[in-house]
Amino acid sequence: MAEHHPQAQVHPVPDKIAKSARVDRERFEELTREALENEDAFWNRIGQRVEWIKPYSRIKDVNFDLDDLHIRWFDDGTLNVCANCVDRHLDARGDQVAILWEGDDPERDEKITYRQLHDRVCRFANVLKRLGVGKGDRVTLYMPMIPEAAVAMLACARIGAIHSVVFGGFSPDALAGRIIDCDSKCVITADEGMRGGKATPLKKNVDRALSNEDAADRVDSVLVVRNTGNDIDWDADRDHWLHEALEHVDADCEPEEMNAEDPLFILYTSGSTGKPKGVLHTSGGYLAWASWTHEIVFDYQEGEIYWCTADVGWVTGHSYIVYGPLANGATTLMFEGVPNYPDNSRFWQVVDKHQVNIFYTAPTAIRALMRGGDEPVRKTSRESLRILGTVGEPINPEAWEWYYNVVGDGRCPIADTWWQTETGGILISPLPGATDLKPGSATKPLPGIKAALLDADGKELEGATSGNLVLTDSWPGQMRTVYGDHKRFGETYFAAYKGRYFTGDGARRDEDGYYWITGRVDDVINVSGHRLGTAEVESALVAHSAVAEAAVVGFPHDIKGQGVYAYVTLMAGREGDEKLAEELIQWVREEIGPIATIDHLQWAPGLPKTRSGKIMRRILRKIAANEHDQLGDTSTLADPEVVENLIENRRQV
Ligand code: WT7
Repeated sequence: MAEHHPQAQVHPVPDKIAKSARVDRERFEELTREALENEDAFWNRIGQRVEWIKPYSRIKDVNFDLDDLHIRWFDDGTLNVCANCVDRHLDARGDQVAILWEGDDPERDEKITYRQLHDRVCRFANVLKRLGVGKGDRVTLYMPMIPEAAVAMLACARIGAIHSVVFGGFSPDALAGRIIDCDSKCVITADEGMRGGKATPLKKNVDRALSNEDAADRVDSVLVVRNTGNDIDWDADRDHWLHEALEHVDADCEPEEMNAEDPLFILYTSGSTGKPKGVLHTSGGYLAWASWTHEIVFDYQEGEIYWCTADVGWVTGHSYIVYGPLANGATTLMFEGVPNYPDNSRFWQVVDKHQVNIFYTAPTAIRALMRGGDEPVRKTSRESLRILGTVGEPINPEAWEWYYNVVGDGRCPIADTWWQTETGGILISPLPGATDLKPGSATKPLPGIKAALLDADGKELEGATSGNLVLTDSWPGQMRTVYGDHKRFGETYFAAYKGRYFTGDGARRDEDGYYWITGRVDDVINVSGHRLGTAEVESALVAHSAVAEAAVVGFPHDIKGQGVYAYVTLMAGREGDEKLAEELIQWVREEIGPIATIDHLQWAPGLPKTRSGKIMRRILRKIAANEHDQLGDTSTLADPEVVENLIENRRQV
């Protein structure tokens, strides 16, 4: 049966934007054609965005085949990423604001010019050197959204150390696992972080992470930023205050000459199996792609104020708060707080206060604010806004229209940007001056990006169709490997479809060639735009002594996009009650972090399995979504009664 999709209303490119845009329709066609007909010229154009110390002579060296899997770009060139983001702007815009910081407390803000940023980064880098950190060493950052987070990343890049930023919402256990996996010798943190008026005990969490001996063995030093000033525990052999360490260094720090393929950072992300993977990004190609996409997708123009509301703990913060905007000499706004503190107008108050021109956020934030009605938005001006963006999950057309009409007053194009931690930068997105918009569609692949839809057998589908989204060729921002586990890199992304990168997403392509991402087709849940592996939540649950078995699936959630639904089978003799349910939910939050908050926990005397013992998640997803009248084929179930029981109990909640 053919799927029916009502024709969405199309929003054409506004004339005003088309006239001044860096990429208009004609330019878009030219670039797309060049990428197809003269690949080297096109990629060279991207490579030239970087200021190289030694220019490259080779552009691309890629093989997606498992037996010789490698991805290299511009690989005989040398550069320093920090120098590209800071030093190179000193002559032309030393006194322009680089980082515009807005505190959680609306009374607090700070403007850091490129010259001041240079000074702070150099001093910070010298502190790291004094702590014995050098080229190739791994440094874990566990930071609040304060300027030092960006300064620390750039300082690592300056001396050639590899940073691994762990989101401040992750638990001590999760932090310890990430420190161990990449063998970090240094941790950078703050006493506490502030969000929505509440303090997070970051240093205390680091102490707890380092009570794990495996982690403690690796870490020589913990560098602590004084942020709230509240009391913290101190280990004099290991801990160093940043402000004290800064007294012993000067501001001279030559950037280290790095190869294009030297690692820049590791960022852990959840997959469908096992523990989180350390996604490894390298220097030259990553920076070139972050820089180019930041410029064309947001149509960034000289002097504009650009604001991405993400946290630096996610890839969006890496590519579109720090590296992309700073490589482009932009003013990047960094926000410590949350959308609803002190009240629901906060985002728009900040837009007015700092005259923000480009605003990039997540659908989950838009949906949450939409619930609060139009008034908190309408009472602000937002006249400075020119371009809007979203990322992280599919945006439903209602939320899109609200963002467009209420937030943007029907004036600002929305860039619905599809990408992943693994892709380093945006791959599918409209360009404000070139692409007519359809609410809910990320529209078309950027020039140079070869997207395709495959059926389950790997056959490439043509025209308007649905399938699994793959990239058939590389781009400079692509991840290079899973840190320390190249085999897993191959198995995860290149084994499903020979010679192609599998994204894990499903998508539909319409008659105009527009892509509509439908969501993950693997066992990954997208909660508020953050990836959570069902296997991770399950293993946290079964680590509790009361739990015999658990299965976790996603279900549709009004605000979060997807919520977490857990089916739990208890040990014989244990009784499932409210109190135990609460305890298990709290347990998982502590094991992983508050992102992993179970929204719904159901006691399951048994789980639906095939005769060979495989849990039938498809059925569990249907029950969680309250669609148990559409279970599909259940003939392979070992014990149909199990399903009847689950449906029966689902009805009661
Ligand atoms: C997954 C990647 C890229 C930074 C934020 C998330 C989903 C992302 C969109 C979008 C529909 C999207 C995909 C993707 N996703 N952007 N515009 N429309 N889905 O990074 O944690 O690596 O997650 O987020 O499912 O695979 P991430």
